[in-house]
Amino acid sequence: MLSTLRVATRGAVVARSASAFRFQAVRAGSTWANVPQGPPAILGITEAFKADSFDKKINLGVGAYRDDKGKPYVLPSVRAAEQKVVSNNLNKEYAGITGVPEFTKSAAVLAYGKDSSALDRLVITQSISGTGALRIGGAFLQRFYPGAKKIYIPNPSWANHGAVFKDSGLEVDKYRYYDPKSIGLDFEGMVADLKAAPKGSIFLFHACAHNPTGVDPTPEQWKEISAVVKEAGHYAFFDMAYQGFASGDTNKDAFAVRHFVAEGHNICLAQSFAKNMGLYGERVGAFSIVAKDAEEKKRIDSQVKILVRPLYSNPPIHGARIAAEILNDATLHKQWLAEVKEMADRIITMRALLKDNLEKLGSKHDWSHITSQIGMFAYTGLTAAQMDSLAKEHSVYATKDGRISVAGITSENVGRLAEAIYKVKG
Ligand SMILES: Cc1ncc(COP(=O)(O)O)c(C=O)c1O
Repeated sequence: MLSTLRVATRGAVVARSASAFRFQAVRAGSTWANVPQGPPAILGITEAFKADSFDKKINLGVGAYRDDKGKPYVLPSVRAAEQKVVSNNLNKEYAGITGVPEFTKSAAVLAYGKDSSALDRLVITQSISGTGALRIGGAFLQRFYPGAKKIYIPNPSWANHGAVFKDSGLEVDKYRYYDPKSIGLDFEGMVADLKAAPKGSIFLFHACAHNPTGVDPTPEQWKEISAVVKEAGHYAFFDMAYQGFASGDTNKDAFAVRHFVAEGHNICLAQSFAKNMGLYGERVGAFSIVAKDAEEKKRIDSQVKILVRPLYSNPPIHGARIAAEILNDATLHKQWLAEVKEMADRIITMRALLKDNLEKLGSKHDWSHITSQIGMFAYTGLTAAQMDSLAKEHSVYATKDGRISVAGITSENVGRLAEAIYKVKG
C-alpha cells in the first residue's frame, strides 16, 4: 500500500506489466472506479409512479397482492398466528441449518399432499423465500447433477430466473412457452423443444400461475409433458410460488407437482409463502428434493446442509414459525384456505370486470385471454409503445412487456383502466 502511494505521488516510471499499472491507476483514484453502472431494476416503474402527481394514477407493476382499496393486505390468519407465536414466548436461538422442522414438515405436506409417496424420502430445507429455494436448487444441481450443468427455463419466465441460475453456476437456455399470436401456450413448440433437448436435460417448470404470462398448461397437457420428460430422461425442477393463489385451491394448484411425483419423477421443488400467505418480507420458503429411497435421502440431506452452511448458516425463524402455526393448527389452516381463496377470487373477479368494461366500451378485440389466464399477472398483448402511452397519457404504470399485475386493479379503478387500454389499443 505504502509503496503504491509512493509510486503514485512521485510519478516514477517503473517498468511493470500493463495490468499491474492499470490496477495502480485505479487505486490512485478509487478502488471501485471500474464498477460499471447497471441497468435500472423493475422498481423503475414504482419510481415513475411515485413521481406522477395525478391522483387517479394506477400502479400495475408490483408483484404483490393489494386489497380492493389498493392497499397491502395482511391476512387475518397471519395476524392470529403471529399473536400465537408472540404469546408462546419462545427463545431466539438459532434454528438448525435446514430451518424450523414444524414448518418444513408441513410445507412438504402442503406441496406434495398428505398421502404422497414422496414424504418419506424427501429432503427439505427452509429457504430465504422462493428466490433462496431456487438458488439452493441451482447450486445443488451445479455441484451434483450428473448430466450437463444447464437449465432450460420457459420463454418468457420470471425476470429473476436467468440471473439466479447463472449465479448458481448453471448455463441457462430457453424453451418455447408463450405464443404471442394466440396470447396463450405454445404447447406444440414446448413439447418439440422438450424432445429436441439432449437426453437428461434439466427443465424448470412453473407449477402454476406462470409469471409473467398467466398462461398454464391444462392438466391433460401436464400429463403429456410428464410423459415426454420421462421418455427423454429429463430432470424436472418445479417453481411453485403461487400455490393456492392461482385457483384458490391449494390442491388444484399442486396438480403438476403431484402428477410428476406419481409418475415416478424424482423432482426438486422451490416453494414460496410470499404470495399465498402474504409473508413477502418475512422470506419464508422451502427447497426440497425427492430422493429415490431413505439411503439416498440421507446422502442428499448431508450435502444440502454442507451447501447451505457457508451461504447463510441457518434461516430466519419468525416467518417460518408463523407459517408453521397456520399449517399445523386445524382452525387457522381452515381460515387461511378461505383467505387464500378470497384473494384468488378477487383477482378472478377483477379479470372479468376488466374484460366486461373493455367490451362495453365497444372494443372489437378478443379479450378472452384476460379471463383464461390465471394468477397475479395478465399478459395483455399490448406492445411496448402502447404500454408507454398508457404511462405517459393515462398514468397507468406496468412493465413494457405488456404484463399487468391484476392485484393492482380495484372496483374503483377498473373502469378508468379499461378506458385507458381502449384508448391506446382500440
Ligand atoms: C415465478 C416466481 N418464482 C419465484 C418467486 C420468488 O419470490 P420470493 O423470493 O419473494 O418468494 C417469484 C416472485 O415473484 C415468482 O414470480
